[in-house]
Amino acid sequence: MKAFNINEQLMLGVCYYPEQWPEEMWEDDMIRMKETGISLIRVGEFAWSIFEPTEGNYQFKDFDYMLRLAHKHGLKVIIGTPTATPPAWLTEKYPEVLNATVEGHLLHHGLRRHTNYTSTTYHRLSAAITEALVLHYKDNPAVVGWQLDNEFNCEIGEFYSESDHEAFREWVKQRYGTLEKLNDAWGTVFWSQTYSSWSQVHLPRLVPGGKQPNPHLALDEKRFISDSVIAYAKIQADIIAEHAPHHFITTNGLFGHLNSHQLTKELLDFFSYDSYPQFSTINTDPKEKRPLYDRSWSLTLSTVRSISPQFCIMEQQAGPGGWVNKMDMPSPKPGQLRLWSYQSIAHGANLVVYFRWRTATFGQEIYWHGLNDYGNTPNRRVAEAAKVGKELQLLSDQLAATTYQADVAIVRDYNNEWDGEYDVWHGPFGWKSGKEWFKALTRKHIPSDVLYMNEETTLAELQRYKLLVYPHPAIMSKATAQLLEAYVVAGGHIVFGCRSGYKDQRGHCYMLPFPGVLSTLTGITLEEYTVLKGTRPATTLTCSDQSTLEAAHFNEIIQPVSATVDVLAVYDQDYYKGKPALTQNRFGKGTATYYGSVFSEEAAHYILQQLDVVSTPAPWLDLPEQVELALRGNEEEQYYFLLNYNEQPAEISLHEPAVDMITNQTLQGDIILEGYDVLILRKA
Ligand code: GLA
Repeated sequence: MKAFNINEQLMLGVCYYPEQWPEEMWEDDMIRMKETGISLIRVGEFAWSIFEPTEGNYQFKDFDYMLRLAHKHGLKVIIGTPTATPPAWLTEKYPEVLNATVEGHLLHHGLRRHTNYTSTTYHRLSAAITEALVLHYKDNPAVVGWQLDNEFNCEIGEFYSESDHEAFREWVKQRYGTLEKLNDAWGTVFWSQTYSSWSQVHLPRLVPGGKQPNPHLALDEKRFISDSVIAYAKIQADIIAEHAPHHFITTNGLFGHLNSHQLTKELLDFFSYDSYPQFSTINTDPKEKRPLYDRSWSLTLSTVRSISPQFCIMEQQAGPGGWVNKMDMPSPKPGQLRLWSYQSIAHGANLVVYFRWRTATFGQEIYWHGLNDYGNTPNRRVAEAAKVGKELQLLSDQLAATTYQADVAIVRDYNNEWDGEYDVWHGPFGWKSGKEWFKALTRKHIPSDVLYMNEETTLAELQRYKLLVYPHPAIMSKATAQLLEAYVVAGGHIVFGCRSGYKDQRGHCYMLPFPGVLSTLTGITLEEYTVLKGTRPATTLTCSDQSTLEAAHFNEIIQPVSATVDVLAVYDQDYYKGKPALTQNRFGKGTATYYGSVFSEEAAHYILQQLDVVSTPAPWLDLPEQVELALRGNEEEQYYFLLNYNEQPAEISLHEPAVDMITNQTLQGDIILEGYDVLILRKA
């Protein structure tokens, strides 16, 4: 029995750093947290030098007092293991724990995440602090769970210390067994890269032109990093599971070079994510058409949900962001903090922990604002959080056990993400197309999931969806292609974009005509293909309904080979004018659509219209584009979240009566949803 289960309640929490404030403030902080509707704090994840000021000398007195106060005021506590910030004594004495750049320069004390995951010394020291903490706090009545480390692979996701090179060599030996198999997998006969001894094997090192490794090694490097993180996390998770089986284990953040699905399946009770929608205002591609800005976080939250259907937001943005030297972000406008909290909840977050209680008055994150400002006087952000806190008490019982409901999934997989990072021929397309599909679906009010394919994915998992969009799976095993065929034969619908089906899991190209192992399912072959560069940014297409589309970045000239293929659009320009660009194959009871380009939102809209297999789950609601519809439900009831991301009010029509879950009023007819406002409905 765990002391806390994620699926039993909706709850608010806050990240708290007692070590950064005078002890006299702690109790007042906690009293005000409770007044704000906060029931949980996350503490300790950077406090190693407090817990162990010198080697083996553990000091828990201050945190003991703080935890006594927390318990007195009814606050539950998550403790973070502090291994993202080792003390100065540690890295001074054991420099072998430090990470290094590809050039071999050590990364030193002074920021955070400067260690590697492979040094056995760091394993030992991390295990020791974790064990000391767990043994000390396992019976503390306030503590309910543990966060492993903090944001694995944030700050840096590459590791080139001595121990990494050594561990990689071992990993490669385990994976391939013989040098012959390794040479074959990495295609080392090309440019005489053949290895004749294991000692010659390294992680990428500098070569002429800088860092440009053999592509198959580059793919294995990502797999190795992910395995190293998981092996490192397991050391801590095993200690917690052994001594504190009644506490949950989680970790926070979604970063590159880590299979978070595997990590969660093997080690965690549920996954946690850190949601900062305001990054969308500083990271938006200026060339992107109609970006979703903060609403685009819903796509990331869908990925989080694919890891844990109900999850925790361990850090929910609570103010303007900013380090002293970077990331200057606008302040959330009135309503946005609440809107973003519900964005998380709508997508499956049951525990929302704001980052952070109060803005730090010193250090790197001096401008990363928490709920409270430096002056600690009442402000509108605290008031907004308090509003959410009150509302969650009304919603918790009905919503806690529900999960997100969707008929469509955008499909991804780690192999293609990791291979694509180095491969400019397909790499940039996956994320771009996924985003455009998400825009089309969300603006049509069709809730969607993200589904991560792997070797263990079953037909039943695919069959939860009417439509799968797998934008550019360059790497596709024969077994996966067969699974997708079975899905379509049984009535599923699938959509692919260019560069699909042509590589095996090592990243070698199949000696097959394109789209490789997907030819049978799609009923097509490709005559040829070209990157679009120089002459024009996009080729115009004419669709079968005479509308036009623009096919940018890449054009593949499709040749149907099966009589069951319908051509849905042809190219209008160049030497391939009149040739098919978009086709649909009737295969068994379903269809496989193939688009020889990178998806735009318009192309996704057109394909959705052609498919006619999915529609909004709330035809009784007329919603403007600016409102997101998200759906949580279970066998008994569906809950409709309406989220207005625009500062302008939205006009909504309810053709049937529905109950506002917060006010308990029955609504019908035309209503106004104010700018940044949220409405949660159930059918009356
Ligand atoms: C991350 C970290 C936090 C903090 C915030 C804001 O999510 O986990 O410790 O640094 O970013 O920068």
